[in-house]
Amino acid sequence: MANQDQADYWNRRSISWDEEATKAEPVIGPFGQMAMEALRLRVGERVLDIGCGTGVTTRMLADALHPSGHAHGVDISSAMIDIARERVFHGGASFEVADAQVAAVEGAPFDAAFSRFGVMFFSDPEAAFANIRRSLLPGGRLGFACWQDLSLNDWIGLPATAVYGLLPEGTAPAPVAGEPGPFSMADAEGIYEMLQGAGYSLVRVEPIEHSVELPVELVDAVVEFGCGSGLVRDALRDASPDVVERAVGAIREAIEDCVVEIEPEPAAEGEEPGPPARVLRLSAAAHIVTARA
Ligand SMILES: C[S@@+](CC[C@H](N)C(=O)[O-])C[C@H]1O[C@@H](n2cnc3c(N)ncnc32)[C@H](O)[C@@H]1O
Repeated sequence: MANQDQADYWNRRSISWDEEATKAEPVIGPFGQMAMEALRLRVGERVLDIGCGTGVTTRMLADALHPSGHAHGVDISSAMIDIARERVFHGGASFEVADAQVAAVEGAPFDAAFSRFGVMFFSDPEAAFANIRRSLLPGGRLGFACWQDLSLNDWIGLPATAVYGLLPEGTAPAPVAGEPGPFSMADAEGIYEMLQGAGYSLVRVEPIEHSVELPVELVDAVVEFGCGSGLVRDALRDASPDVVERAVGAIREAIEDCVVEIEPEPAAEGEEPGPPARVLRLSAAAHIVTARA
């Protein structure tokens, strides 16, 4: 398998990813929705879901294509696919364990290929996207969401960066541009070049940035989320209990720094305006990418 290290990693992380994704749905969900809308799916079409994880988006695709269409989810991790198969009972959905970089996917060719944050982990992205193009009909649509830079994604970047600062110099497993990982496709120019090199036309990369505003009462939950996130778990894998304890404090401090005051709603006539509200504001930024095979 071309990406055995990724298969091992995601097999280890299937349960924690599933929990993380459920908690992060308010952040990742809208980006996935945008990528799906960009594909302009039609009932009856057949669509490939790349790096489908536990099948959340495959089910959404199957619902959109119902009753005559079909969604086929592929993932390199058998543990992810086991969860997807247990959970998604849908006549219009199927799943396959496959490395999207090299596999001849069952049921190809498809009308479209979709991914929500499942395409940043290939050891050779251009070869992988060329392979995905071969599983599409001529002119078939590609649409996916991938993260912009870590620094534009407070919700996951602040906890990770806070922890990296506690580790001995040169040991933090910070994402490296171009290396497989959640931020490997942060550079829009690189995406154009890579997809054109893989044989796609009409490549479009739309950078979307938005901030998520949460009630200040959720600070504890966000700190807990940050502590359990993949980047932080990876960084603290071999850390001493002392560093782990300091990491929780550093994450809390970084998150609390994002609490801001916002103007209250305008008061109704004759009423006093309320005090400014306090919210937790965290940035989130992804690219919505579309292209034609
Ligand atoms: C961040 S998760 C996203 C999961 C899912 N798309 C979602 O939004 O819930 C990334 C997924 O990509 C999968 N993946 C990584 N490399 C892959 C490859 N070469 N082929 C297929 N899937 C891969 C991982 O196993 C993991 O399930």
